[in-house]
Amino acid sequence: MRRRAADYRRPVRRRLSCWIWSFLAIFSIAGFVLFVVHHHHVEQPTLERESRNEQAVHERMNLTQEMLSVNSYARQLAEQTTLAKAYIIIAKEHNNLHLAWELSTKIRSCQLLLSKAAMRDEPISLDEAEPIIRSLSSLILKAQDAHYDIATTMMTMKSHIQALEERANAASVQSMMFGQLTAESLPKNLHCLEIKLMADWLTKKSLQDFADERRNSPRLVDNNLYHFCIFSDNLLAVSVVINSTVVNADHPKQLVFHIVTDSMHYGVMLAWFLNNDFKGSTVEVQNIDNFTWLNSSYSPAVKQLMATDSRNYYFDGSQDTGVEPKFRNPKYIYLLNHLRFYIPEIYPQLEKIVFLDDDVVVQKDLTPLFSLDLHGNVNGAVETCLEAFHRYYKYLNFSNPLISSKYDPQACGWAFGMNVFDLIAWRKANVTARYHYWIEQNADRTIWKLGTLPPGLLAFYGMTEPLDRRWHVLGLGYDVNVDNRLMESAAVIHFNGNMKPWLKLHINKYKSLWERYVNQTHPHLQDCATH
Ligand SMILES: *[C@@H]1O[C@H](CO)[C@@H](O)[C@H](O)[C@H]1NC(C)=O
Ligand SMILES: *[C@@H]1O[C@H](CO)[C@@H](O)[C@H](O)[C@H]1NC(C)=O
Ligand SMILES: *[C@@H]1O[C@H](CO)[C@@H](O)[C@H](O)[C@H]1NC(C)=O
Ligand SMILES: *[C@@H]1O[C@H](CO)[C@@H](O)[C@H](O)[C@H]1NC(C)=O
Ligand SMILES: *[C@@H]1O[C@H](CO)[C@@H](O)[C@H](O)[C@H]1NC(C)=O
Ligand SMILES: *[C@@H]1O[C@H](CO)[C@@H](O)[C@H](O)[C@H]1NC(C)=O
Ligand SMILES: *[C@@H]1O[C@H](CO)[C@@H](O)[C@H](O)[C@H]1NC(C)=O
Repeated sequence: MRRRAADYRRPVRRRLSCWIWSFLAIFSIAGFVLFVVHHHHVEQPTLERESRNEQAVHERMNLTQEMLSVNSYARQLAEQTTLAKAYIIIAKEHNNLHLAWELSTKIRSCQLLLSKAAMRDEPISLDEAEPIIRSLSSLILKAQDAHYDIATTMMTMKSHIQALEERANAASVQSMMFGQLTAESLPKNLHCLEIKLMADWLTKKSLQDFADERRNSPRLVDNNLYHFCIFSDNLLAVSVVINSTVVNADHPKQLVFHIVTDSMHYGVMLAWFLNNDFKGSTVEVQNIDNFTWLNSSYSPAVKQLMATDSRNYYFDGSQDTGVEPKFRNPKYIYLLNHLRFYIPEIYPQLEKIVFLDDDVVVQKDLTPLFSLDLHGNVNGAVETCLEAFHRYYKYLNFSNPLISSKYDPQACGWAFGMNVFDLIAWRKANVTARYHYWIEQNADRTIWKLGTLPPGLLAFYGMTEPLDRRWHVLGLGYDVNVDNRLMESAAVIHFNGNMKPWLKLHINKYKSLWERYVNQTHPHLQDCATH
């Protein structure tokens, strides 16, 4: 039998044993997941080399099977490693540095053995495994003895298990080539939903008539109603933003949503928003291609984009006319992102509007935002400099004299995602012209590299009213430790970061906060569900 011999175990005190063993079980699973994720990448080059080599005939060790086997030493070692890692953290927290050092030394030799085995394609033998298993076991028992307070152990382990899982997720994102692009592309089921809606839009004449009828509604320009704008090409995300806003509103019929999307999603969005119930609120959809005023002679942002586009066209040669149209076009992602700087031009008759990103979920009635006193400022936003970072010097190049002469490097940053804009003050202060000025100054990308926040910090400088931070709680797309109470009390939670709730790589504990606003019984969603 390849099982761990009984004398490696310690006869634990009876009332504690069941806790310890249930945690062992949980850690085994976590360890297994971690190991597979980690070694998947180690394994890859070997596999490819082998498959190219036609002569490789011998039966190779299958790491997946080896890990799944209850009796394998590799698996036992991986389990022990995970447990030992948790004890390192606990030992460090209790200042038991010698024990932590002993544990990490053993973990290193254990990992060395595992990667050696993976490289040579042979299972680990008893002779190799025994000394390591034996010494790790005795160290783990020592750690259990030293930190016998099972209640604290439980709490610590629970949070570390989560951290380990998230780190495994994060590692696999980072190791993907074009990790960012992969994270941004739409999963199959959402793509499927969009295709179905597109078909609805093209085949149902009644939908198009309905849309025409809605287009001239006086509600769209009525300043007695509450207006929201969302610029996105992600149908389900926008649906969650709007649904969560109306579900939590005291008077949903007084809400008006203004969506701008690209031509690929125009019909998709209309087909969805006209056919589903959003509690009597008004939803307008516009196509960004219809904004002829947003052209390169007016906007330096568009001009720079076009210049990049044509460069790619001449030097890259990948602009095949025969390729199927992509559902997410980087050019439109960029333009939709920058539309936030043109809100007064898009809605010339409106006086106040709340801007929402497509990765937020609304949890409270937002109408009180419209009566907040902004003290003459243009932009109401939550500040993000509670921690030392997120100040201006973090976002902008202060070596540039234009920046260092006008701005305070310690000025507090704020966030886009839920902003209330006073459009009258915006027009008066000419914020869009300020934005244009900075876009032109940054043509060589030396003031900031990417994104809409740096030009936003410059354009709205001295015109931003700090809001109570419970209006907008950030970090659900990357931070596994967002404060629970803060999250519950938040009017808007924001999944900023790469781990969006609609992607495979998301943070598990936050997903339901988003998902509960999706109508899972909708026939299209049921048809598109992946198993
Ligand atoms: C290893 O085994 C798993 C499960 O049996 C199988 O799905 C996988 O294709 C195998 N891999 C190799 C490289 O043989
Ligand atoms: C395009 O914009 C014009 C006004 O500039 C408007 O009258 C027209 O209805 C818009 N078309 C669509 C399809 O949104
Ligand atoms: C570009 O936009 C400006 C206003 O922003 C407009 O006057 C002009 O006609 C537009 N040019 C084209 C080619 O559409
Ligand atoms: C706003 O900026 C534009 C272009 O920079 C300029 O033509 C216009 O006069 C400015 N308006 C005000 C009110 O300052
Ligand atoms: C920051 O600005 C200075 C001065 O304009 C420039 O020399 C430097 O390259 C910039 N740094 C980066 C990272 O772009
Ligand atoms: C909106 O959210 C509610 C849950 O609060 C859900 O029951 C409903 O199906 C959602 N509607 C749509 C159109 O997704
Ligand atoms: C969900 O969608 C189905 C089908 O469109 C509809 O019949 C149902 O009323 C919706 N449920 C909710 C809670 O909106």
